[in-house]
Amino acid sequence: MSVQAYAVRDEQRPPDNLLLQVVQRGLRSQPKRLPSWLFYDERGSALFEQICEQPEYYLTRAEIALLDAHAGEIAAVLGSDVRLVEYGSGHAIKTRLLLEHLATPVAWVPIELSPEPLRLSMQRMEQHFPELPIQPLGADFTRPLRLPVPPRAPRRTVVYFPGSTIGNFEEREAAQLLRKMRGEMGDNGGILVGADLKKDRSVIEAAYNDRAGVTASFTLNMLARLNRELGCNFELGSFRHRAHYNAMAGRIETHILSNREQRVRVGRLQVLFREDEAMLVEYSCKYSVEDFAALAATAGLTVQHVWFDPERMFSVHYLTRSGSA
Ligand code: AVI
Repeated sequence: MSVQAYAVRDEQRPPDNLLLQVVQRGLRSQPKRLPSWLFYDERGSALFEQICEQPEYYLTRAEIALLDAHAGEIAAVLGSDVRLVEYGSGHAIKTRLLLEHLATPVAWVPIELSPEPLRLSMQRMEQHFPELPIQPLGADFTRPLRLPVPPRAPRRTVVYFPGSTIGNFEEREAAQLLRKMRGEMGDNGGILVGADLKKDRSVIEAAYNDRAGVTASFTLNMLARLNRELGCNFELGSFRHRAHYNAMAGRIETHILSNREQRVRVGRLQVLFREDEAMLVEYSCKYSVEDFAALAATAGLTVQHVWFDPERMFSVHYLTRSGSA
């Protein structure tokens, strides 16, 4: 079997009290904010998959259309004998489209902190590519990684970061993450990264305010998670979701708003929310081609290629070290 015995290396689980510390710090700060990784418990991950199927959420469809149109070309640019290191594992549909075109890949290394999604995507991938060595890594990809030793020497390591998740990081953090990937890929390596494009406000805002209310449930699920895992007493009906496009900053800013003045227990802390007080929970940054090239440059990277879907909604960039051919 090519999957390495489902041996997920669980290197970087945060200590148990970290969650409480992170949440208390975020709720003490002014304005209040919580990190968007808190969305992704089991229910949050399932809701995110539902978001991807909503008619307004164009991102996933556009990225798949892009790969349908250009995966062959992308694979030709990456070349043969690539080790594909994927940040996140998701349902790996996009990865499958890419791997179908890659010549003699050395290994696929999905990196994912949650064991269940990682196991599922590995299983699916194994069915499609029984010969492909799979080397899963159970880790937080924002932290320094120890990549597994490849089964044979790759011609290049390519870090694949699909899905516009780079847009969920603020600019400085996004640059730091790209710089970290730059170190991991080595001199001859590359980064293949998806990024959502700037476009009409109404199209972007609709994607984050779907009519069925799935995104609103996804956002508020963060509070349900805090109730369950930290014993908080958020009343879900007393908060609401708001996603607004800040055109100056080029990003969707998602907030949770308090419907009334209320106090919530968070560990030993009693947190006061004023009526209509907004707590920031996510940025989803949108880029022009120039914006993304500038971001890459701050991380010592150059855009070698950029591809678009036929409707030019979404982009995929191939980055290499600046100064290298
Ligand atoms: C995971 N990430 C790229 C999504 C996005 O579009 O920013 C998360 C999301 N949040 C609300 N809808 C989707």
